[in-house]
Amino acid sequence: MAALLEVSRLQANYGPTRVLHGIDFALEDGSITALLGANGAGKTTTLRALCGMVQTAGEIRFGGTRIDGRATEDIVRLGIAHVPDGRGTFANFSVEENLRLGAYVRKDKRAVERDFECMYSYFPRLKERSHQQAGTLSGGEQQMLAISRALMLRPRLLLLDEPSFGLAPIIVREIFEIMRAINQHEKVSILLVEQNAAMALDLADHAYLIETGRVVLSGSAGKIKQNDAVRRSYLGY
Ligand SMILES: Nc1ncnc2c1ncn2[C@@H]1O[C@H](COP(=O)(O)OP(=O)(O)OP(=O)(O)O)[C@@H](O)[C@H]1O
Ligand SMILES: [Mg+2]
Repeated sequence: MAALLEVSRLQANYGPTRVLHGIDFALEDGSITALLGANGAGKTTTLRALCGMVQTAGEIRFGGTRIDGRATEDIVRLGIAHVPDGRGTFANFSVEENLRLGAYVRKDKRAVERDFECMYSYFPRLKERSHQQAGTLSGGEQQMLAISRALMLRPRLLLLDEPSFGLAPIIVREIFEIMRAINQHEKVSILLVEQNAAMALDLADHAYLIETGRVVLSGSAGKIKQNDAVRRSYLGY
């Protein structure tokens, strides 16, 4: 299958400090790909680099088009939606208002209205709470809202930064199951950044391991799961 996203020799800097030292990876169209790594490895920075939110060098191609150096808003319009760490919903706005904001660049207004129902069918709890202020939702519900808000863009690629963070395992499992269904039915490819390597490798097709700004291992999720170093350091058995 063709690559939807191709990243080569990607570097990223915060001022004088280089955080990514030339990473290469690709994401197949339709796949779920996981980026794993310890705290500070550069996972969040990688997602921010894809969105034009940090200074970069190297090449990023999305659907064959160079997107490195482009403005974040252009990248969003091309179909990349980002759910940042910490989720980034608008606390004082209702669930419904947050979803509407997610669709702000779309012109197909009728389809946007249908997509509210689509999101509510994946996340019925959000429907029950459509008028509730986002800031008063539980952590799990806020993560569901952050994901749905990003999907309201109808992206080709969804970037998820630690969706499991701070959530009970049962909620994480529920959200990951829904992500699998969304990947299959809505034709959205997913780049998943996770500390929770076990769950990420169960969901993903392919995975990359990043250590201090470099890709040190890549392969099918099944293969990565069996790697001894990954088992010791990230899976704990
Ligand atoms: N705004 C910033 N200014 C300077 N350095 C930063 C900035 N943001 C991140 N860094 C540094 O970049 C490195 C990579 O950070 P990043 O947030 O990408 O890691 P991460 O893999 O997402 O870690 P975590 O699992 O803890 O979220 C770290 O050393 C961090 O201190
Ligand atoms: Mg991070």
